[in-house]
Amino acid sequence: MTSRHDPTSPGVSTDDDVEALIDPRVRPLSVSATLAARARAETLASEGRTIYRLGLGQSPFPVPAPIVESLRRNAHERDYLPVRGLPALRRAVARYHERRFGFARSADDVVIGPGSKELMFLLQLCYSGDIVIPTPAWVSYAPQARLAGRSVRFVPTSEDDDLMLSPRTLDDLCRRDGPRARILVLNYPGNPVGATFSRDALAEIAAVCRRHGVIVLSDEIYGELHLAGEHVSIGTLYEEGTIVSTGLSKWCGAGGWRLGVLSFPARLRRLGDALAAAASETYSTTSAPIQHAAVAAFEGSPELGVYLADARRLLALLMPWSAAQLRWAGLRVTEPCGAFYLFPSFEPLRAELLRAGICTDRQIADRLLEQAGISCLPGSDFGMSPDSLYLRLALVDFDGASVMRAAREVALDESFVHERMEPVARAIGALCAWCRAL
Ligand SMILES: Cc1ncc(COP(=O)(O)O)c(C=O)c1O
Repeated sequence: MTSRHDPTSPGVSTDDDVEALIDPRVRPLSVSATLAARARAETLASEGRTIYRLGLGQSPFPVPAPIVESLRRNAHERDYLPVRGLPALRRAVARYHERRFGFARSADDVVIGPGSKELMFLLQLCYSGDIVIPTPAWVSYAPQARLAGRSVRFVPTSEDDDLMLSPRTLDDLCRRDGPRARILVLNYPGNPVGATFSRDALAEIAAVCRRHGVIVLSDEIYGELHLAGEHVSIGTLYEEGTIVSTGLSKWCGAGGWRLGVLSFPARLRRLGDALAAAASETYSTTSAPIQHAAVAAFEGSPELGVYLADARRLLALLMPWSAAQLRWAGLRVTEPCGAFYLFPSFEPLRAELLRAGICTDRQIADRLLEQAGISCLPGSDFGMSPDSLYLRLALVDFDGASVMRAAREVALDESFVHERMEPVARAIGALCAWCRAL
């Protein structure tokens, strides 16, 4: 295809002609920022450079052995399953919500899909209201809303609130915009900050949502990775208005298995029906062997309990240690509560960065990749302004399987981080050295 017009070929003959064929909602999109960061890091690594992969938020831990075994046993499953999902899995998910987080959901209101990402997109497609997104936020919420033709209302947050939504700001937005249909997207423990809400903060948000009739899409994909194992779901405080999203990707280390879950409150069953109808016309059903295997994950077992406790202990060692190192190097960092992300602010180094010719977050990320081999994402990919100088670090570049084994035999202290959690420990060291050399 040339970019010059070919008069002998009617219709599509130039790149501009093709561009014009792309729907305006899709045209501004590029490949999801996190996947693009991984591709870039892989290219450099293939050229022989040492690259620390702090870009893509993939769990460092292996899929727990009993779940892998369950998949092996179910590899022969070949039938299309019901569009809402395997009944036994939906029952296991409903029981899981009750057992782990104490809120009731009927199996009839659970929908299984190929990743929570797909389900959240279909939800936004089916729901004709505004999508309210506190920023910073996971990279895909806003593009999904735009693809679905929804209007997005971003709600800024402040470092005083650990970059988490303040109930007052939400209340102000609802009053300013007046009565209308809205979904509020809440993600906690959150990507990119790694912070979470206290029960009191969730109760205040629930009160505002109830007052204004806001539906909450509660993205709890990192709920099991609360560092202290004390995740609280807003589903316990605002049962009637909360749709809970989770899946196997993060706490089960199975991102590539593509299994996600949405659980609707009984009052919103019709919305779940609409989503199932849209699913039936798009992906039909989620992979049968994966659904059969996932029953064991949601049913839980003592072995799975040990796996999760180990994952939390390791993250509870690595994350605060890394945050402290970055603070000593001059950055501002919210204390992590869960997931595997840090979102340091380079604001205290603004003058030094300017002297080095760096004035945006993307320039910091580019320079870090070039000079220190650190691949990470700029805060602007998460809805921050490019000159606000945040980066997102995914602290996942270590061998989770061997680290889990070692954690059962030796003490978890700082030397464990240096000796066993390489290369992430070296990456943090390199980042700190880069900051000090500015
Ligand atoms: C906050 C958040 N929600 C949802 C997802 C999507 O997860 P899934 O693999 O279930 O589609 C991710 C993945 O990175 C995420 O970070």
